[in-house]
Amino acid sequence: TRTQVAIIGAGPAGLTLSHLLAARGIDSVVVETRDRAAIESTIRAGVLEQGTVDLLTGTGVDTRVRTEGARHDGVEFRFGGRGHRIDFAGLVGRSVWLYPQHEVLKDLIATRLAAGADLRFGVSDVVPVGVETDSPAVHFTDAQGRRVELRCDVVAGCDGSAGVSRTALPEDRRVDHFRTYPFGWFGILAEAPPSSPELVYAHSDRGFALISTRTPDVQRMYFQCAPDEDPSAWSDARIWDELQARVAGDGFALKEGSIFQRGVIPMRSYVCDPMRFGRLMLAGDAAHTVPPTGAKGLNLAVADVIVLARVLEEFLASGEERRLDSYGPTALRRVWRAQHFSWWMTSMLHTPPEATPFDLQRQLGELDMVTSSRAGAAYLAEAYTGWPIDD
Ligand code: FAD
Ligand code: DHB
Repeated sequence: TRTQVAIIGAGPAGLTLSHLLAARGIDSVVVETRDRAAIESTIRAGVLEQGTVDLLTGTGVDTRVRTEGARHDGVEFRFGGRGHRIDFAGLVGRSVWLYPQHEVLKDLIATRLAAGADLRFGVSDVVPVGVETDSPAVHFTDAQGRRVELRCDVVAGCDGSAGVSRTALPEDRRVDHFRTYPFGWFGILAEAPPSSPELVYAHSDRGFALISTRTPDVQRMYFQCAPDEDPSAWSDARIWDELQARVAGDGFALKEGSIFQRGVIPMRSYVCDPMRFGRLMLAGDAAHTVPPTGAKGLNLAVADVIVLARVLEEFLASGEERRLDSYGPTALRRVWRAQHFSWWMTSMLHTPPEATPFDLQRQLGELDMVTSSRAGAAYLAEAYTGWPIDD
């Protein structure tokens, strides 16, 4: 089998890339280890930047984001016992949308299949080969157990933080920028009405909490926990008590309900530099991971492939290898800004295990600056709603 671009991974990066390439008349095949049902039901991110929504709706993805998603024009920071709103719309004229990642994936898969795309779910033993030559390929075993050689012009490694693509990049040819945090996020889904019209990012001396939403009947909440916390060790009552304690003050209280999903998310920052090795181009979590506090992970994956689709079009039209050079440096500029924003939000809002009273007061000073200074609030609003795409 032969295609122009072999895409490893059917997450936001891989599926969006396949879609953007098709719009340019470029052929691709997507190979994915999980089955379609698993992809369409895995709970992950929830916040889409305005630019991500504009891209999906503007390129004909049959997305329900505008009807079923919720536009948020601001966000609330709670600290010192009360809420402080940041008005995105008023400060920067932009918004974000609450629309779950697996719904984005359902929309992308449906759009690609309706266009006749070749998406191979449930494959195994995926190996990119010959990426330093001009005839690379991806070898895999398909869902029927047949070994397949997928020849191509370029391999796009979109297989997330635990994929195989990055390992094709020899360790002495890349720099791994890596940082772990001494805490994780305990995430729940609960059947309950919303407690607040906008997202709440809460700082407290017990640690961070985030109150988000999915639908009028389902709420998403997170709280800082130990990185190795066992979610099954927590009763529902203990979870609610902990969440309530972290957002308390000012008469504010969460509306509680039945908890039907829970899990612990690790927190890390990672960047692989370069993002290209010969004919292998890394995009999304395969190339970088951010802690979730800034809600940047999915949006960064989409921003990468917007740049990548343009670079691949130039390369495939001209046959000039040097056209691939600009991808990494262009994408990395946004990646490092998002790394900084995600690290900054994380360090401003979380309580590290060894935090001193000085650390807590310094965080409160920072939060006061961000919520009371117009310049501070505008920086946060600009970064959270998303910088323009470097196209
Ligand atoms: P992924 O979505 O990881 O997609 C990669 C795909 O490649 C997957 O479908 C995977 O099955 C497939 N794959 C893996 N290995 C192979 C292989 N060898 N061969 C073929 N296919 C392979 N971000 C936020 O902003 N907020 C959040 O609340 C948030 N929560 C998260 C919770 C969890 C549990 C995780 C893991 C991530 C979360 N993220 C969150 C991050 C966000 O979901 C990611 O940044 C985003 O999914 C990146 O998209 P991607 O396409 O690059 O990678
Ligand atoms: C959600 C996740 C985030 O990481 C975030 O910063 C805001 C909201 C969510 O899952 O709703």
